[in-house]
Amino acid sequence: MSTENNPQDFRRALGAFTTGVTIVTTCDADGSPVGMTANSFNSVSLDPPLVLWSIAKSAKSLPAFAESGHWTVHILSAEQEALSDRFARRGEDKFAGLQTETGSNGCPLLTDCAARFQCKTSFQYDGGDHLILVGEVTGFDSSERTPLVFHGGRYALATKKSGPLGLAAADEPHSFSEDFLGYLVGRAHYQFLGSIRSELETQGLSDPEFFTLSTLLQRGAQSRGALDELMRHSGFPAQFSPIERLCAREMMHEEQGETGGRYALTRSGRQAVLFVIAAAKAREADLLEKLGDWDARVLKNLLKQMIALTDPGSVEVWQATQTRVA
Ligand SMILES: Cc1cc2nc3c(=O)[nH]c(=O)nc-3n(C[C@H](O)[C@H](O)[C@H](O)COP(=O)(O)O)c2cc1C
Repeated sequence: MSTENNPQDFRRALGAFTTGVTIVTTCDADGSPVGMTANSFNSVSLDPPLVLWSIAKSAKSLPAFAESGHWTVHILSAEQEALSDRFARRGEDKFAGLQTETGSNGCPLLTDCAARFQCKTSFQYDGGDHLILVGEVTGFDSSERTPLVFHGGRYALATKKSGPLGLAAADEPHSFSEDFLGYLVGRAHYQFLGSIRSELETQGLSDPEFFTLSTLLQRGAQSRGALDELMRHSGFPAQFSPIERLCAREMMHEEQGETGGRYALTRSGRQAVLFVIAAAKAREADLLEKLGDWDARVLKNLLKQMIALTDPGSVEVWQATQTRVA
């Protein structure tokens, strides 16, 4: 245990406590709206309904909160990170261009939050360099929106657990259990691909053929070298390259350009790949609906991180693709 008063270490240790993020609003003596981002919010009592938060004595909005007698706590949703940043900037006109309502306690009400609590100041306590405000809740509402999370000095993503995290067997050196990441990612991939297997078969396409045609659809005509490089990121060995087969089936053809030969989709190749992509998009939509919007984003975010960490080159490939599609 450190007994020295080292503010940086103390702040870092406090950051281990994961919180939501709120914006607290009130009005100053002129009736102008005032607000600031705060994560010191907590519940105190159910009966009477009391909550608290603390405000730095150095905050520009301190006089307004100390004197107004009313304030409203907005628990931010995961979509409101930019709003949190805006209200964490000192003294700016934080409400400029914002659509707000006025609550029954006279304080500005922000919209699209995870929950809101209208409060009347019950107690104020000195808290070192902060003032602690305890308020009685006079009105509240809540929604199903996923809350914004703050952990270790950064915004974080909240996701619901589906079961225990990690199996004991995963720690054993010889185990190749269902907790092995490669197994999970691979199985998810093959099961998803399995869901469009019948469409691939209808079009007579193998997995590398589908990969090649969809690459040409997204990126336009490509040289053989570029296609081989892209194939490398698909996980199929170069000898699986289906260029000749697809040309023989007239799904793609070679064009002569200024920079040499390039391969492009033919009409029938385009139709075949669009047919399969439509099915894949429909299966993705079904899956995302079951997963829920926020968990779907968390999953995509983690998969993108894994892709970047295991093959940084593939991110460049991707960005080029996205630029082109955009
Ligand atoms: C996630 C987060 C949580 C914060 N929590 C608090 C808090 O609980 N109390 C506080 O006084 N400042 C807190 N701050 C800092 C204030 O939002 C910031 O100092 C703001 O500029 C104060 O505005 P003002 O000086 O215009 O009043 C927090 C900032 C962030 C980004």
